[in-house]
Amino acid sequence: MNIQWYPGHMTKAKRAMKEDIKLIDLVIELVDARVPLSSRNPDIDSLAAGKARMVLLNKSDLADERLNAQWAAWFEAKGIHVVKIDARNKGTLKQVQGVVQQACRDKIERDRKRGILNRPIRTMVVGIPNVGKSTFINSFAGKACAKTGNKPGVTKGNQWIRLNKTLELLDTPGILWPRFDDQSVGLKLALIGSINDQILNKDELAGQCIRILKEQYPGTLLKRFDLETEDKEPAAILEDIARARSCLMKGGELDVARASALLLDDFRAGKLGRVTLEQPGE
Ligand code: G4P
Repeated sequence: MNIQWYPGHMTKAKRAMKEDIKLIDLVIELVDARVPLSSRNPDIDSLAAGKARMVLLNKSDLADERLNAQWAAWFEAKGIHVVKIDARNKGTLKQVQGVVQQACRDKIERDRKRGILNRPIRTMVVGIPNVGKSTFINSFAGKACAKTGNKPGVTKGNQWIRLNKTLELLDTPGILWPRFDDQSVGLKLALIGSINDQILNKDELAGQCIRILKEQYPGTLLKRFDLETEDKEPAAILEDIARARSCLMKGGELDVARASALLLDDFRAGKLGRVTLEQPGE
């Protein structure tokens, strides 16, 4: 889903989130493990102030395993609990329930001291479009859950999904906007396919993709397309890809636009290998 964010949308999303957040104990923030910072909402820390926090490094199956570990440590150092997941794969979600309990330890202890036992933890899933919120909710809540009906104050249409005795989840994710004030964020989100390609033309985007791969993951293009890329500019490499994949126009001319689209599709689907576009401390 691509949302064009305008100030009106952002104000509305922020207002809805502020209301919903009053009702919950824990914010489960999904980020894309390939761009763990660029896929975060710039206001999330203030929106989630005072709540227990958890980050799910989603699409970790597409991200560099070494950097997944570094990013997990980076979030943990900020006091945020982290689980690496592939929201489509239930096996990777097994850890989530246990980490929810850890993240809410203080609340559970406070409740216990006040004689409140077994009050479920209330949580909501938030994140920018396309990070995998709906996929996660579907996999995590599964069929076993029962909706507990509307409760006062919950945004109209929202319902609580009772996952088990200890956990309730707001059934509608909080959709937030990404950062706009930094062009490199837009570029990275366009590369992973999370925002409109129109922000840059596809050939330019493919060129950036080649630049990043050459610099950070050398050998990738050689492996996928059997291409020597050393000393070559991205435009020439794109032509080589067009040749290697027979992307030709009617008159036999190279169809570089098709080669660009092909490269970006391969990149987004993980066919060029597991790639993370940003590093902690960069
Ligand atoms: P959203 O609600 O946050 O907007 O995201 P959504 O769940 O719709 O997921 C966006 C896309 O990301 C979907 O692909 C989904 O299958 C994919 N996805 C979600 N989690 C993961 C993950 O952990 N790993 C990988 N590799 N992909 C993930 P799509 O192509 O838009 O839809 P579909 O063709 O899969 O249905």
